[in-house]
Amino acid sequence: MTKKYLDMAARAGLRGRGDVEPNPLVGAVIVRHGVDGGEDQILGIGHHCRFGGLHAEREALANARGNGFDVAGSTVYCTLEPCCHVGKQPPCSEALIEAGVSEVVYARRDPAEVSRGGHELLEAAGIKTSCDDVSELAVSISDPFIHMVKAGLPWVVVKWAQTIDGRIATSAGESQWISNERSRAMVHRMRSRVDAVGVGMGTVLADDPMLTARGVRRVRRSAVRVVFDTHGRFPVDSKLAESAGAYQTVICTSRPEHISVAGIRVLECPALDGKLDLKAALRLLHVECGVSNILIEAGPRLLGSLLDGDLIDEAVVHLAAGIMGDDSARACATGRECSSLDQMKRFKLGRVKRVGDDVHLHYRK
Ligand SMILES: NC(=O)c1ccc[n+]([C@@H]2O[C@H](COP(=O)([O-])OP(=O)(O)OC[C@H]3O[C@@H](n4cnc5c(N)ncnc54)[C@H](OP(=O)(O)O)[C@@H]3O)[C@@H](O)[C@H]2O)c1
Repeated sequence: MTKKYLDMAARAGLRGRGDVEPNPLVGAVIVRHGVDGGEDQILGIGHHCRFGGLHAEREALANARGNGFDVAGSTVYCTLEPCCHVGKQPPCSEALIEAGVSEVVYARRDPAEVSRGGHELLEAAGIKTSCDDVSELAVSISDPFIHMVKAGLPWVVVKWAQTIDGRIATSAGESQWISNERSRAMVHRMRSRVDAVGVGMGTVLADDPMLTARGVRRVRRSAVRVVFDTHGRFPVDSKLAESAGAYQTVICTSRPEHISVAGIRVLECPALDGKLDLKAALRLLHVECGVSNILIEAGPRLLGSLLDGDLIDEAVVHLAAGIMGDDSARACATGRECSSLDQMKRFKLGRVKRVGDDVHLHYRK
């Protein structure tokens, strides 16, 4: 039962994606458990809907009241430990205490110094409180937030489209388009929900991308466009440069003196072995530009470096139903040494989705 309700809370929490960050995605479900074999009754469901808005527990309480239910004596399932501090909203723990709930089950302890402690507050008020990691989904929806708080880094999602034989471009660098139209529409939706969309200089030179979210019904946030450009080679006649007045654009470079394009923000980053120190660049993007998550549409060299630096939190691979069969076509990642299988980077497979003849594969670190 606990898993069922925590899963439900997590699915509610996921609805806030793109609207609540840098706050965590949180969902909550209020249940009155049936007695003597009677059926459970769901009194209310809520999620954190927008940054600065009501937290999930208060949304669920309001939902229950709106449904005409008294929540006294009920059990609350939420994905994150209820907060106990006054931020943009009053503490959720207090609301749960005032509402007279009997039990609170949450999936993950709050790592943030300012807001943790809800567990103790609830217990002190006589509410049975426990942390239960039985739902993988409920635990994992807080991953980006916890990563940001603990590591001081944005959550990195890399995305690429490849053929069955793992090629992302022809030998001449042509990659538009490997995946189908529906997959590409999905990429635009992904762009519309993140703080930043990044590419390496190789992709800027080969594809001259815009990196905007087009054809999306509701753009939840306007992503900052980021270019990782070690040597300051960013072309002034690129689409990114020409549209910099309309869309926020940041160049991460160790040679800021080489870049002077109106409307572009230049972030000076250190270099390591002749390449941008990507960890330092990501940290600066978080600290200086408030980036809590970034979608990197990586070419092979950038992907190789991100793998080497262990910087990939999530990977989305659009597998197209084609084979190039050409030795000189570009592999999805290059520049690494992998002479033994120990050096191979492994991921956990999450969601798999068929989209026409393409397959979308979601991986986690
Ligand atoms: N199928 C797909 O999904 C997909 C997606 C993206 C790209 N592509 C294709 O990939 C090709 C481009 O790939 P690419 O490997 O040439 O370029 P890339 O990976 O997009 O960018 C590599 C460049 O980024 C810069 N960079 C900055 N810091 C770096 C670091 N720490 N490590 C590595 N690079 C760093 C370097 O340029 P500087 O030295 O100038 O800084 C480097 O040459 C194109 O053909 C494009 O069409 C395909």
